[in-house]
Amino acid sequence: MKLLLLQALLFAVADASLKPQMGWNSWNTFKANINESTIKNTATALVKLGLADAGYEYVMIDAGWQTDTRAANGQQQANATLFPSGIKGIADYVHSLGLKLGIYSDSGIYDCDFHPGSWGYEELDAYTYASWGIDYLKYDNCGGFQAGTISSQERFQKMGQALKTSGRDIFYALCQWGHQFPWYWADQIANSYRMSGDIQASFASDKSGVCQTAYCLNTGYAGVSVLTMIRKMREISAFQSPGSWADMDMLEIGTNSMTEFEEQTHFSFWAALKSPLIIGADITNISASSLNILQNKEVIAISQDRLGAAASYVPDLSTEGSIQVWGGPLSHQYVALALNYGNKTTDIGIKLDGLPGLRQFCKHKSVSIRDIWDKKNLGTFTDEIRLQNVSIHQTKLLLMSC
Ligand code: GAL
Repeated sequence: MKLLLLQALLFAVADASLKPQMGWNSWNTFKANINESTIKNTATALVKLGLADAGYEYVMIDAGWQTDTRAANGQQQANATLFPSGIKGIADYVHSLGLKLGIYSDSGIYDCDFHPGSWGYEELDAYTYASWGIDYLKYDNCGGFQAGTISSQERFQKMGQALKTSGRDIFYALCQWGHQFPWYWADQIANSYRMSGDIQASFASDKSGVCQTAYCLNTGYAGVSVLTMIRKMREISAFQSPGSWADMDMLEIGTNSMTEFEEQTHFSFWAALKSPLIIGADITNISASSLNILQNKEVIAISQDRLGAAASYVPDLSTEGSIQVWGGPLSHQYVALALNYGNKTTDIGIKLDGLPGLRQFCKHKSVSIRDIWDKKNLGTFTDEIRLQNVSIHQTKLLLMSC
Protein backbone atom coordinates (compact mmCIF):
# COMPACT_ATOMS: atom_id res chain seq x y z
CA MET A 1 0.00 0.00 0.00
CA LYS A 2 2.78 2.39 1.03
CA LEU A 3 4.63 1.54 -2.17
CA LEU A 4 1.55 2.31 -4.25
CA LEU A 5 1.15 5.68 -2.52
CA LEU A 6 4.79 6.47 -3.13
CA GLN A 7 4.45 5.52 -6.79
CA ALA A 8 1.35 7.71 -7.12
CA LEU A 9 3.23 10.58 -5.53
CA LEU A 10 6.22 10.18 -7.82
CA PHE A 11 3.93 10.00 -10.82
CA ALA A 12 2.16 13.18 -9.69
CA VAL A 13 5.47 14.98 -9.34
CA ALA A 14 6.67 13.78 -12.72
CA ASP A 15 3.50 14.40 -14.73
CA ALA A 16 3.52 17.98 -15.97
CA SER A 17 -0.05 17.70 -17.22
CA LEU A 18 -1.62 17.50 -13.76
CA LYS A 19 -1.84 21.31 -13.70
CA PRO A 20 -3.03 23.45 -16.62
CA GLN A 21 0.03 24.25 -18.73
CA MET A 22 1.44 27.78 -18.76
CA GLY A 23 3.52 29.45 -21.42
CA TRP A 24 3.61 31.69 -24.49
CA ASN A 25 2.61 31.02 -28.09
CA SER A 26 3.55 32.98 -31.21
CA TRP A 27 0.25 32.80 -33.11
CA ASN A 28 -2.02 35.52 -31.67
CA THR A 29 0.42 38.34 -32.25
CA PHE A 30 2.80 37.19 -34.97
CA LYS A 31 0.68 34.76 -37.00
CA ALA A 32 3.06 32.97 -39.42
CA ASN A 33 5.58 35.87 -39.44
CA ILE A 34 8.03 34.34 -37.01
CA ASN A 35 11.76 33.75 -36.98
CA GLU A 36 14.53 32.73 -34.62
CA SER A 37 14.74 36.17 -32.97
CA THR A 38 11.00 36.28 -32.26
CA ILE A 39 11.30 33.05 -30.30
CA LYS A 40 14.63 33.71 -28.59
CA ASN A 41 13.74 37.29 -27.62
CA THR A 42 10.47 36.11 -26.14
CA ALA A 43 12.18 33.35 -24.17
CA THR A 44 14.67 35.88 -22.79
CA ALA A 45 11.84 38.28 -21.91
CA LEU A 46 9.88 35.54 -20.12
CA VAL A 47 12.80 35.19 -17.75
CA LYS A 48 13.68 38.91 -17.44
CA LEU A 49 10.11 40.03 -16.76
CA GLY A 50 9.62 37.42 -14.06
CA LEU A 51 7.00 35.51 -16.06
CA ALA A 52 9.09 32.33 -15.98
CA ASP A 53 9.24 32.56 -12.18
CA ALA A 54 5.47 33.06 -12.13
CA GLY A 55 5.10 29.67 -13.88
CA TYR A 56 5.05 30.37 -17.64
CA GLU A 57 7.42 27.65 -18.80
CA TYR A 58 6.59 26.62 -22.40
CA VAL A 59 7.72 28.74 -25.36
CA MET A 60 5.63 27.68 -28.33
CA ILE A 61 6.52 28.05 -31.98
CA ASP A 62 3.18 27.97 -33.81
CA ALA A 63 2.65 27.70 -37.60
CA GLY A 64 5.24 29.33 -39.85
CA TRP A 65 8.44 27.44 -38.97
CA GLN A 66 8.43 24.82 -41.74
CA THR A 67 9.51 24.62 -45.34
CA ASP A 68 6.92 23.83 -48.01
CA THR A 69 8.17 20.27 -48.46
CA ARG A 70 9.80 17.57 -46.40
CA ALA A 71 13.55 16.86 -46.72
CA ALA A 72 14.73 14.09 -49.08
CA ASN A 73 14.81 11.63 -46.15
CA GLY A 74 11.16 12.48 -45.35
CA GLN A 75 11.87 14.54 -42.23
CA GLN A 76 10.13 17.78 -41.37
CA GLN A 77 12.49 20.71 -41.76
CA ALA A 78 12.57 24.27 -40.45
CA ASN A 79 12.93 27.18 -42.85
CA ALA A 80 16.70 27.70 -42.63
CA THR A 81 16.55 31.37 -43.57
CA LEU A 82 14.15 32.17 -40.75
CA PHE A 83 15.65 29.70 -38.25
CA PRO A 84 19.39 29.53 -38.98
CA SER A 85 20.19 27.60 -35.77
CA GLY A 86 17.51 25.05 -36.57
CA ILE A 87 14.87 24.02 -34.07
CA LYS A 88 17.48 22.03 -32.12
CA GLY A 89 19.55 25.21 -31.69
CA ILE A 90 16.51 27.09 -30.40
CA ALA A 91 15.64 24.22 -28.06
CA ASP A 92 19.16 24.36 -26.62
CA TYR A 93 18.81 28.11 -26.06
CA VAL A 94 15.36 27.83 -24.48
CA HIS A 95 16.51 24.95 -22.26
CA SER A 96 19.56 26.93 -21.16
CA LEU A 97 17.12 29.49 -19.72
CA GLY A 98 15.34 26.75 -17.77
CA LEU A 99 12.31 26.86 -20.12
CA LYS A 100 10.73 24.29 -22.44
CA LEU A 101 10.09 24.41 -26.16
CA GLY A 102 6.83 23.67 -27.99
CA ILE A 103 6.18 23.20 -31.69
CA TYR A 104 3.18 23.02 -34.02
CA SER A 105 2.13 20.38 -36.52
CA ASP A 106 -1.06 19.07 -38.08
CA SER A 107 -2.96 15.78 -38.13
CA GLY A 108 -3.74 16.04 -41.86
CA ILE A 109 -1.47 15.91 -44.88
CA TYR A 110 -1.19 19.72 -44.71
CA ASP A 111 -1.42 22.33 -42.00
CA CYS A 112 -3.80 25.29 -42.46
CA ASP A 113 -1.21 27.03 -44.65
CA PHE A 114 -0.28 24.00 -46.81
CA HIS A 115 2.97 23.07 -45.06
CA PRO A 116 3.47 19.32 -44.59
CA GLY A 117 1.22 17.81 -41.94
CA SER A 118 2.09 14.64 -40.07
CA TRP A 119 -0.52 12.25 -41.48
CA GLY A 120 1.32 9.05 -42.45
CA TYR A 121 4.55 10.37 -40.89
CA GLU A 122 3.54 10.35 -37.22
CA GLU A 123 6.37 8.14 -35.97
CA LEU A 124 9.06 9.89 -37.98
CA ASP A 125 7.84 13.33 -36.90
CA ALA A 126 7.53 12.37 -33.24
CA TYR A 127 11.03 10.95 -33.38
CA THR A 128 12.35 14.09 -35.14
CA TYR A 129 10.74 16.40 -32.56
CA ALA A 130 12.17 14.29 -29.73
CA SER A 131 15.64 14.42 -31.30
CA TRP A 132 15.40 18.22 -31.54
CA GLY A 133 14.54 18.44 -27.80
CA ILE A 134 10.89 19.42 -28.20
CA ASP A 135 8.83 19.30 -24.98
CA TYR A 136 5.32 20.14 -26.26
CA LEU A 137 3.35 19.46 -29.43
CA LYS A 138 0.33 21.53 -30.50
CA TYR A 139 -1.41 19.31 -33.06
CA ASP A 140 -3.89 20.93 -35.45
CA ASN A 141 -6.90 19.78 -37.46
CA CYS A 142 -6.52 21.26 -40.97
CA GLY A 143 -5.12 19.33 -43.81
CA GLY A 144 -6.86 18.01 -46.91
CA PHE A 145 -8.74 14.80 -47.57
CA GLN A 146 -7.62 12.89 -44.47
CA ALA A 147 -8.71 15.67 -42.11
CA GLY A 148 -12.18 15.59 -43.64
CA THR A 149 -12.68 11.84 -43.82
CA ILE A 150 -10.78 10.18 -40.99
CA SER A 151 -12.15 10.75 -37.51
CA SER A 152 -10.39 13.14 -35.15
CA GLN A 153 -10.00 10.36 -32.63
CA GLU A 154 -8.10 8.19 -35.11
CA ARG A 155 -5.83 10.95 -36.42
CA PHE A 156 -5.01 12.37 -33.00
CA GLN A 157 -4.53 8.98 -31.41
CA LYS A 158 -1.93 7.98 -34.02
CA MET A 159 0.29 10.90 -33.02
CA GLY A 160 -0.38 10.24 -29.32
CA GLN A 161 0.98 6.70 -29.76
CA ALA A 162 3.97 7.95 -31.72
CA LEU A 163 4.84 10.50 -29.02
CA LYS A 164 4.73 7.76 -26.38
CA THR A 165 7.36 5.77 -28.23
CA SER A 166 9.46 8.80 -29.23
CA GLY A 167 11.81 8.43 -26.28
CA ARG A 168 11.03 11.90 -24.89
CA ASP A 169 8.37 13.22 -22.56
CA ILE A 170 6.34 15.50 -24.86
CA PHE A 171 3.23 17.32 -23.65
CA TYR A 172 0.44 16.66 -26.16
CA ALA A 173 -2.05 19.48 -26.84
CA LEU A 174 -4.87 18.82 -29.31
CA CYS A 175 -6.13 21.67 -31.45
CA GLN A 176 -9.31 20.40 -33.08
CA TRP A 177 -11.47 23.40 -32.22
CA GLY A 178 -14.04 21.51 -30.15
CA HIS A 179 -15.03 19.28 -33.09
CA GLN A 180 -16.76 16.06 -32.08
CA PHE A 181 -17.03 17.24 -28.46
CA PRO A 182 -13.53 16.26 -27.29
CA TRP A 183 -14.43 16.72 -23.63
CA TYR A 184 -15.87 13.18 -23.93
CA TRP A 185 -12.81 11.45 -25.38
CA ALA A 186 -9.63 13.55 -25.43
CA ASP A 187 -8.60 12.34 -21.96
CA GLN A 188 -7.79 8.96 -23.54
CA ILE A 189 -5.39 10.52 -26.03
CA ALA A 190 -3.83 13.80 -24.93
CA ASN A 191 -3.08 16.22 -22.10
CA SER A 192 -5.30 19.06 -23.30
CA TYR A 193 -7.75 19.84 -26.10
CA ARG A 194 -9.13 23.01 -27.64
CA MET A 195 -12.85 23.29 -26.83
CA SER A 196 -13.63 25.93 -29.46
CA GLY A 197 -12.54 27.70 -32.61
CA ASP A 198 -9.90 30.42 -32.30
CA ILE A 199 -10.27 33.30 -29.87
CA GLN A 200 -10.24 36.80 -31.31
CA ALA A 201 -8.86 39.90 -29.65
CA SER A 202 -12.20 41.24 -28.43
CA PHE A 203 -13.97 41.09 -25.10
CA ALA A 204 -17.53 40.94 -26.38
CA SER A 205 -17.84 40.85 -30.16
CA ASP A 206 -17.71 37.62 -32.11
CA LYS A 207 -17.09 37.23 -35.80
CA SER A 208 -20.45 36.63 -37.44
CA GLY A 209 -21.49 32.99 -37.42
CA VAL A 210 -19.76 32.03 -34.18
CA CYS A 211 -21.97 29.83 -32.07
CA GLN A 212 -22.25 30.78 -28.41
CA THR A 213 -22.70 27.37 -26.84
CA ALA A 214 -20.47 24.30 -26.70
CA TYR A 215 -23.02 22.05 -28.40
CA CYS A 216 -23.64 23.29 -31.88
CA LEU A 217 -22.66 22.32 -35.39
CA ASN A 218 -20.29 25.20 -36.02
CA THR A 219 -18.33 24.78 -32.78
CA GLY A 220 -15.08 25.14 -34.65
CA TYR A 221 -15.55 28.57 -36.21
CA ALA A 222 -12.85 31.06 -35.32
CA GLY A 223 -13.46 34.62 -34.16
CA VAL A 224 -14.71 33.85 -30.64
CA SER A 225 -14.75 36.68 -28.08
CA VAL A 226 -13.73 36.28 -24.45
CA LEU A 227 -17.38 36.42 -23.33
CA THR A 228 -18.45 33.74 -25.79
CA MET A 229 -15.56 31.47 -24.78
CA ILE A 230 -16.76 31.79 -21.17
CA ARG A 231 -20.35 31.08 -22.31
CA LYS A 232 -19.26 27.85 -24.00
CA MET A 233 -17.58 26.71 -20.78
CA ARG A 234 -20.94 26.60 -18.96
CA GLU A 235 -21.39 23.18 -20.56
CA ILE A 236 -17.78 22.03 -20.41
CA SER A 237 -16.31 23.15 -17.07
CA ALA A 238 -17.59 20.03 -15.28
CA PHE A 239 -15.34 17.91 -17.53
CA GLN A 240 -12.12 19.60 -16.39
CA SER A 241 -9.83 17.16 -14.64
CA PRO A 242 -6.09 16.86 -14.06
CA GLY A 243 -4.35 15.57 -17.16
CA SER A 244 -7.15 16.49 -19.59
CA TRP A 245 -7.66 20.23 -19.78
CA ALA A 246 -10.18 22.04 -21.97
CA ASP A 247 -8.12 24.78 -23.61
CA MET A 248 -9.95 28.11 -24.01
CA ASP A 249 -7.19 29.23 -26.43
CA MET A 250 -4.38 31.72 -26.01
CA LEU A 251 -4.80 34.80 -23.82
CA GLU A 252 -5.44 38.15 -25.50
CA ILE A 253 -4.18 40.04 -22.43
CA GLY A 254 -1.57 42.57 -23.54
CA THR A 255 -2.76 42.76 -27.16
CA ASN A 256 -4.25 46.23 -26.54
CA SER A 257 -7.75 45.03 -27.28
CA MET A 258 -9.40 45.33 -23.86
CA THR A 259 -9.79 47.55 -20.82
CA GLU A 260 -8.04 46.68 -17.58
CA PHE A 261 -11.27 45.29 -16.08
CA GLU A 262 -11.83 43.19 -19.21
CA GLU A 263 -8.31 41.78 -19.01
CA GLN A 264 -8.87 40.96 -15.32
CA THR A 265 -12.09 39.17 -16.23
CA HIS A 266 -10.33 37.27 -19.02
CA PHE A 267 -7.57 36.10 -16.65
CA SER A 268 -9.94 35.31 -13.75
CA PHE A 269 -12.04 32.99 -15.88
CA TRP A 270 -9.16 31.27 -17.68
CA ALA A 271 -7.63 30.56 -14.23
CA ALA A 272 -10.76 29.49 -12.36
CA LEU A 273 -12.02 27.38 -15.29
CA LYS A 274 -8.62 25.63 -15.48
CA SER A 275 -7.79 26.55 -19.03
CA PRO A 276 -4.12 26.44 -19.95
CA LEU A 277 -2.63 29.92 -19.48
CA ILE A 278 -0.80 30.62 -22.72
CA ILE A 279 0.19 34.24 -23.29
CA GLY A 280 -0.52 35.43 -26.85
CA ALA A 281 0.86 38.97 -26.59
CA ASP A 282 4.22 40.38 -27.66
CA ILE A 283 5.77 40.39 -24.20
CA THR A 284 8.81 42.34 -25.40
CA ASN A 285 6.41 45.28 -25.75
CA ILE A 286 3.66 44.93 -23.14
CA SER A 287 2.05 47.45 -20.79
CA ALA A 288 2.78 47.36 -17.07
CA SER A 289 -0.92 46.89 -16.34
CA SER A 290 -1.23 43.79 -18.58
CA LEU A 291 1.98 42.36 -17.17
CA ASN A 292 0.65 42.82 -13.63
CA ILE A 293 -2.48 40.90 -14.53
CA LEU A 294 -0.52 38.02 -16.09
CA GLN A 295 1.73 37.87 -13.03
CA ASN A 296 -0.91 38.01 -10.31
CA LYS A 297 0.26 35.22 -7.99
CA GLU A 298 -3.09 34.69 -6.28
CA VAL A 299 -4.88 34.18 -9.59
CA ILE A 300 -2.17 31.84 -10.86
CA ALA A 301 -2.48 29.86 -7.61
CA ILE A 302 -6.17 29.31 -8.40
CA SER A 303 -5.26 28.00 -11.86
CA GLN A 304 -2.56 25.70 -10.53
CA ASP A 305 -4.48 24.51 -7.44
CA ARG A 306 -3.87 20.85 -6.69
CA LEU A 307 -7.54 19.84 -6.82
CA GLY A 308 -7.81 20.68 -10.53
CA ALA A 309 -11.57 21.31 -10.41
CA ALA A 310 -13.07 24.14 -12.45
CA ALA A 311 -15.65 26.60 -11.15
CA SER A 312 -19.14 26.08 -12.53
CA TYR A 313 -21.87 28.50 -13.63
CA VAL A 314 -24.58 29.19 -11.06
CA PRO A 315 -27.80 30.07 -12.94
CA ASP A 316 -29.82 30.74 -9.76
CA LEU A 317 -27.43 33.50 -8.68
CA SER A 318 -27.03 34.96 -12.18
CA THR A 319 -29.18 37.17 -14.40
CA GLU A 320 -28.92 36.32 -18.09
CA GLY A 321 -27.45 39.24 -20.01
CA SER A 322 -26.17 41.19 -17.01
CA ILE A 323 -24.68 39.15 -14.13
CA GLN A 324 -22.84 35.84 -14.06
CA VAL A 325 -21.87 34.09 -10.84
CA TRP A 326 -19.58 31.05 -10.93
CA GLY A 327 -18.10 29.06 -8.04
CA GLY A 328 -16.13 25.98 -7.16
CA PRO A 329 -13.87 24.41 -4.56
CA LEU A 330 -10.08 24.62 -4.44
CA SER A 331 -8.00 22.15 -2.45
CA HIS A 332 -8.18 24.25 0.75
CA GLN A 333 -10.42 27.18 -0.15
CA TYR A 334 -13.26 28.11 -2.47
CA VAL A 335 -13.37 30.53 -5.39
CA ALA A 336 -16.34 32.56 -6.58
CA LEU A 337 -16.54 34.90 -9.57
CA ALA A 338 -19.10 37.68 -10.05
CA LEU A 339 -19.05 39.25 -13.52
CA ASN A 340 -20.98 42.30 -14.62
CA TYR A 341 -21.46 41.80 -18.36
CA GLY A 342 -24.38 44.19 -18.69
CA ASN A 343 -24.15 47.81 -19.78
CA LYS A 344 -24.22 49.68 -16.46
CA THR A 345 -22.43 49.61 -13.13
CA THR A 346 -24.31 47.34 -10.76
CA ASP A 347 -24.39 45.78 -7.29
CA ILE A 348 -24.16 41.99 -7.13
CA GLY A 349 -25.50 39.97 -4.21
CA ILE A 350 -24.29 36.40 -3.72
CA LYS A 351 -26.26 34.15 -1.36
CA LEU A 352 -23.62 31.83 0.06
CA ASP A 353 -26.00 28.86 0.28
CA GLY A 354 -26.43 29.08 -3.49
CA LEU A 355 -22.76 28.48 -4.26
CA PRO A 356 -22.33 24.85 -5.37
CA GLY A 357 -20.31 22.83 -2.89
CA LEU A 358 -19.45 25.73 -0.57
CA ARG A 359 -21.38 24.41 2.41
CA GLN A 360 -20.04 20.86 2.02
CA PHE A 361 -16.55 22.25 1.89
CA CYS A 362 -16.96 24.92 4.54
CA LYS A 363 -19.10 23.42 7.25
CA HIS A 364 -19.07 26.44 9.57
CA LYS A 365 -21.65 29.12 9.01
CA SER A 366 -19.24 31.98 8.52
CA VAL A 367 -16.92 32.39 5.57
CA SER A 368 -14.10 34.90 5.32
CA ILE A 369 -13.78 36.49 1.91
CA ARG A 370 -10.90 38.15 0.10
CA ASP A 371 -11.21 40.30 -3.03
CA ILE A 372 -8.21 39.20 -5.07
CA TRP A 373 -7.97 42.02 -7.63
CA ASP A 374 -8.52 44.70 -4.94
CA LYS A 375 -6.07 42.84 -2.66
CA LYS A 376 -8.46 43.37 0.28
CA ASN A 377 -9.93 41.13 2.94
CA LEU A 378 -13.61 41.96 2.94
CA GLY A 379 -14.46 40.35 6.29
CA THR A 380 -16.56 37.44 7.49
CA PHE A 381 -19.99 36.65 6.06
CA THR A 382 -22.71 34.19 7.07
CA ASP A 383 -25.58 34.44 4.57
CA GLU A 384 -24.80 36.81 1.75
CA ILE A 385 -22.11 39.08 0.39
CA ARG A 386 -23.16 42.25 -1.46
CA LEU A 387 -20.62 43.65 -3.89
CA GLN A 388 -21.21 47.31 -4.59
CA ASN A 389 -20.60 49.22 -7.81
CA VAL A 390 -19.20 46.43 -9.93
CA SER A 391 -18.10 48.16 -13.14
CA ILE A 392 -19.05 47.17 -16.67
CA HIS A 393 -17.12 44.01 -17.67
CA GLN A 394 -15.48 43.76 -14.25
CA THR A 395 -15.16 40.46 -12.40
CA LYS A 396 -14.96 40.32 -8.64
CA LEU A 397 -12.74 37.34 -7.93
CA LEU A 398 -13.42 36.14 -4.39
CA LEU A 399 -11.32 33.71 -2.40
CA MET A 400 -13.35 32.14 0.40
CA SER A 401 -11.94 30.42 3.48
CA CYS A 402 -13.69 28.74 6.38
C1 GAL B 1 -5.48 27.11 -36.29
C2 GAL B 1 -5.30 27.06 -34.77
C3 GAL B 1 -4.58 28.33 -34.34
C4 GAL B 1 -3.24 28.41 -35.04
C5 GAL B 1 -3.46 28.33 -36.56
C6 GAL B 1 -2.16 28.28 -37.34
O1 GAL B 1 -6.10 25.95 -36.73
O2 GAL B 1 -6.55 26.96 -34.17
O3 GAL B 1 -4.42 28.35 -32.94
O4 GAL B 1 -2.41 27.38 -34.59
O5 GAL B 1 -4.19 27.18 -36.89
O6 GAL B 1 -2.40 28.20 -38.71
